[in-house]
Amino acid sequence: MLITNIKALVGIHPKEKLVLRGSEMAHLPVLENAWLLVENGLIKDFGPMATLPSSISHLPYHNAEGRFVLPTWVDSHTHLVFAQPREEEFVMKIAGKSYEDIAAAGGGILNSANKLAEASESELFESASVRLKELIRLGTGAIEIKSGYGLTVESELKMLRVVKRLKDTFPIPIRATLLAAHAYPAQYRNDHQAYLNLIIKELLPQIAKEKLADYMDVFCEQGFFSVPETDQLLQAAARYGLKPKIHANQLSISGGVEVGIKNAALSVDHLEETNPEVIQALAKSDTIATLLPSCSFYLNIPFANAKELLQADVPVALASDYNPGSAPSGNMNFVVSLGCIKLKMMPEEAINAATLNGAAALALSHEVGSIAKGKRANLILTKPMPSLAFLPYSFGQPQLEAVIINGEIYNG
Ligand code: NIG
Ligand code: FE
Repeated sequence: MLITNIKALVGIHPKEKLVLRGSEMAHLPVLENAWLLVENGLIKDFGPMATLPSSISHLPYHNAEGRFVLPTWVDSHTHLVFAQPREEEFVMKIAGKSYEDIAAAGGGILNSANKLAEASESELFESASVRLKELIRLGTGAIEIKSGYGLTVESELKMLRVVKRLKDTFPIPIRATLLAAHAYPAQYRNDHQAYLNLIIKELLPQIAKEKLADYMDVFCEQGFFSVPETDQLLQAAARYGLKPKIHANQLSISGGVEVGIKNAALSVDHLEETNPEVIQALAKSDTIATLLPSCSFYLNIPFANAKELLQADVPVALASDYNPGSAPSGNMNFVVSLGCIKLKMMPEEAINAATLNGAAALALSHEVGSIAKGKRANLILTKPMPSLAFLPYSFGQPQLEAVIINGEIYNG
């Protein structure tokens, strides 16, 4: 595939640039009036139209006049596998109940776990496939998917086997994360250690045996998993080679960021609540701060302090948090708009956060997340647009004309 007359080819970072720290994120290298050549599903070459080699100018081409080409979004935090939506909780929220009220009344994560226990592996695979196809059509070209609605050995394995099937079936890179420590099941409410032992002694060995997870997540939050509990779980996971990507500081300053950094977390996610100490701890580490503004939008909780994180030179990623309870949308175009509108990121910063830094938060930035020779040709071709800022500006109206996965227009 040869694409010609591209109004601007966006996100041309040097191939060895695997992550961008805060101050680097304002720089989104662009080539105007460009061509791009794909071979064997990879980006073979690109350049300005004036230099289009005669050796390829005879190839069939796609004329992208007036349109931009970007790397596809990398959504590094989702809970895409679930049995049922929870729109009844949405209605409770409108009537004034908080996320914590709903969880305390038997809703929330435990509600999803009850529904998931009844669903078969193939039902879960079918419904997740429908969602994933929709997300790819919306420009997502690599994704992370968590367990965490199982909360029993059997159901956590069921969820991760579904993710494995998605990995084997879909044409995009998928990473799986074990989130058995998402909430304490009712029978362990007064015996936390018994549930931790279940995860450490039964689940982790089985998951390692079947190679079902790439990462380990814990919901480190008041009323969920404490800092010492989180530490214990992350240390156990490390013995199986699972690095942490954890839920931290969603509802309070939980200590999650610090325990994540201590355990060399690839990312700490949410961070709706921070203070100067938390930001300093991140600034001194290589852990990525993954912000999930759709969750703040939907739950009406504070938005993360992206500005200060960027000023402190922390690498920031944006992801959807797609899940039935706190972010029932996996639309990364909307996430990028919220990044600009609510987190006050510049369009360049938000796009870098949703592409290269999202890829870094999955250790995939050697493969996706920017325009570089040899990387996967997972690309967004926009509609005709006056400028790049038009993309996040037109919130709720994705400006995508086509999504290209491994060099082919995605029709799934
Ligand atoms: O990332 N905070 C924990 N987990 C999800 C919500 C899960 C749910 O409500 O089902 C989140 O927001
Ligand atoms: Fe989440």
